Amino acid sequence: MHKDLLSEYDLEKPDYEAIFANAHRLKRLLKEGREHASLRGKTLGMIFDKSSTRTRISFEVGMYQLGGIALFLSTRDTQLGRGEIIADSARIMSRYLNGIMIRTFSQASVEEFARYASIPVINGLTDLLHPCQLLSDLFTIIEKRGRYEGLKIAYVGDGNNMANSWINAAAKLPFHLDLACPDGYDPDSAILCRAIAAAPAGVLLHRDPAEAVRDADVVYTDVWTSMGQEQEREERLRRFQGYQVNQQLLNLARKDVLVMHCLPAHRGEEITAEVIEGPNSVVIDEAENRLHVQKAVMELLMK
Ligand code: CP
Ligand code: NVA
Repeated sequence: MHKDLLSEYDLEKPDYEAIFANAHRLKRLLKEGREHASLRGKTLGMIFDKSSTRTRISFEVGMYQLGGIALFLSTRDTQLGRGEIIADSARIMSRYLNGIMIRTFSQASVEEFARYASIPVINGLTDLLHPCQLLSDLFTIIEKRGRYEGLKIAYVGDGNNMANSWINAAAKLPFHLDLACPDGYDPDSAILCRAIAAAPAGVLLHRDPAEAVRDADVVYTDVWTSMGQEQEREERLRRFQGYQVNQQLLNLARKDVLVMHCLPAHRGEEITAEVIEGPNSVVIDEAENRLHVQKAVMELLMK
C-alpha cells in the first residue's frame, strides 16, 4: 500500500483484496461485539470543504470503534478557510495527528496536502474521485455476489467523480464496465483513455443507456448535479432526460441485478422511487459498508 489513499489508481489488485478481507473481518468482529481497538490513542483529522452525512459519520464512528478519535475540521472554522497555505497546514497537522481525511473540490489540493504531510492522507471525495465510496461499492458486490470478477457493471448518468472512480478501478480489476453518459457529460478523458488501454476486462462508453444496462449484473447511478454544480441544475435536468434508472431500463438488466447508488439520491431524477426502494436495491447495505471498509483502510494505513 502507498502512504495515502488518494485515488483507486494507487491500489493494485492485492491492495484491493487486502482491504476487502480486512473489511470483512472488521465487520464480523463488530457484529459479534468483539474488541477490535487497533488504533487506540490515534487521532484522525477530517477536513471538510463540502457537506457530508455518510463520510463524516462513518469515519468518526469508525475511528471511535477502533479505539481512536476523529476531529471534524470544517474549513469554515479552520485557518485553511482563511487562506493558510496547504504546505503549512499539512506539515503542522502531521505533528498533531496520525491520519487525515479530506473532502474538498480539487484533486490537486488533496495531492498537494499528501506531498507535504508525513502522515497518511485519505481522499474523502473530490470533484474528480471518490475512492472510499468505490471501495465500499465493490465490497458490497462481493458480499452479495461472491465476486466482482467477470461481472458487467453499468454506470448510467453523469461522468462525475463516481464514474471516474469506477473507471480507475476497472483499469486494475477484471470486471466489465459499461457507462452511458449524455453528450457533454463524459467522464474525465485522461482517466478514460488510460483505463481503456489497461483494463483487464474492458471499459466502454455508450450514449444509449439501454446498451450499457443490457444483461448487466449491477446498475449504478449517481446524482445529475454534484456538490459545487448547483448553478447548472436546470440545464442538467434537461440534458439528462433519458438517463433515469427506472423500471423500464432495469428490465433490460439481469433479473437478479443489483441496483446501487452512492447516495444522497434524488428520487424522480437519476432514479425512480420505485427502483431505489425495489427488491434489487442494495443502497442501504452499500452505505453501511462505508463504515467497515473505511475502518479497514484506516487500519492498513495508520496502524
Ligand atoms: N456517499 C457519500 O459520500 O455520502 P456523503 O456525502 O453523505 O458523505
Ligand atoms: N457525485 C456526488 C457524490 C456525493 C457523494 C457529489 O460529488 O456531490
